[in-house]
Amino acid sequence: MINPQYRQRAIQLREELSDDYFILWIWDEALGAAGSPGQFYEIRALASLANLQAVQAIPKLFKPVSIYDNQGGRIGFMIKKVGAGTNALSRLRAGDTLELIGPCGNGFPLTRSKRVLLLSGGIGYPPLWYLQKELINHNQIYWMHGGASQGDIFPCDEIWTEDGSIGRKGRVCDQLQETLVKQEIDIVYSCGPEGLLRAATAVTTEMKIEHYCSMEAYMACGIGVCHGCAVPIGTPQDWTYRRVCKEGPVFNADSIRWELL
Ligand SMILES: Cc1cc2nc3c(=O)[nH]c(=O)nc-3n(C[C@H](O)[C@H](O)[C@H](O)COP(=O)(O)OP(=O)(O)OC[C@H]3O[C@@H](n4cnc5c(N)ncnc54)[C@H](O)[C@@H]3O)c2cc1C
Ligand code: FES
Repeated sequence: MINPQYRQRAIQLREELSDDYFILWIWDEALGAAGSPGQFYEIRALASLANLQAVQAIPKLFKPVSIYDNQGGRIGFMIKKVGAGTNALSRLRAGDTLELIGPCGNGFPLTRSKRVLLLSGGIGYPPLWYLQKELINHNQIYWMHGGASQGDIFPCDEIWTEDGSIGRKGRVCDQLQETLVKQEIDIVYSCGPEGLLRAATAVTTEMKIEHYCSMEAYMACGIGVCHGCAVPIGTPQDWTYRRVCKEGPVFNADSIRWELL
């Protein structure tokens, strides 16, 4: 694992997925060899005269974005426009420059010969795409993904939407216990909003199923300095704060003290 480093890289390709989602691709062989599923980069659009329109709205803070894909150095970031930072990123085109700090944090522990459940909600999808590519040759995978509506849905085995516009109507954890039994799941990897991770952990803890989840947290520095992203980790009797950007974002779900969040 290498320490996070600052770089500037040209965007090779900008892929439009929908009104809300897009992918930025960069090329860097060294970074491709360094990153692992669940790790992320702090990224920002570089101000330049060439992208004046984007520059005007570029916030100072870098934004944490997971590695979505890594094709031997062709690295993709799948991003949803939600606010100023992600909207500024969405205005970048091929040839514009991205500022990056990373790879940051610790990724998912990989496994072999297991029946794996991938569980994602909304923008929790991208890190699991990279993860499934690393697991698929050695495990059996079942992937459930949920979102508010059809626009938040991407390829997977089981779809849930809150408005019922596609797949099953409801939240992706609504029948989690039944799925874990039916699919004979040994291990769960999850990423998504806190409510999803919390609900999933309640089920996996009860069923004593190994579960690793990637936490979403608001990040200021993103590199372990400000402690603004800390979450309580440990046992009910013996816990301490750990930084999502440094010791996380992936934690053993049982070790997160959800009752203190
Ligand atoms: C480790 C990690 C990996 C991430 N990976 C991705 C990714 O691969 N693709 C992607 O699109 N996004 C990802 N995110 C979320 C992304 O960082 C935020 O959407 C982004 O920082 C929002 O910045 P903004 O300036 O556009 O919006 P802001 O103005 O900062 O926020 C707009 C709204 O978005 C919501 N929001 C912002 N940040 C978060 C957060 N961290 N958790 C929950 N809600 C938030 C809030 O409701 C807020 O009101 C990741 C976050 C973390 C912590
Ligand atoms: S965001 Fe500053 S320590 Fe994690």
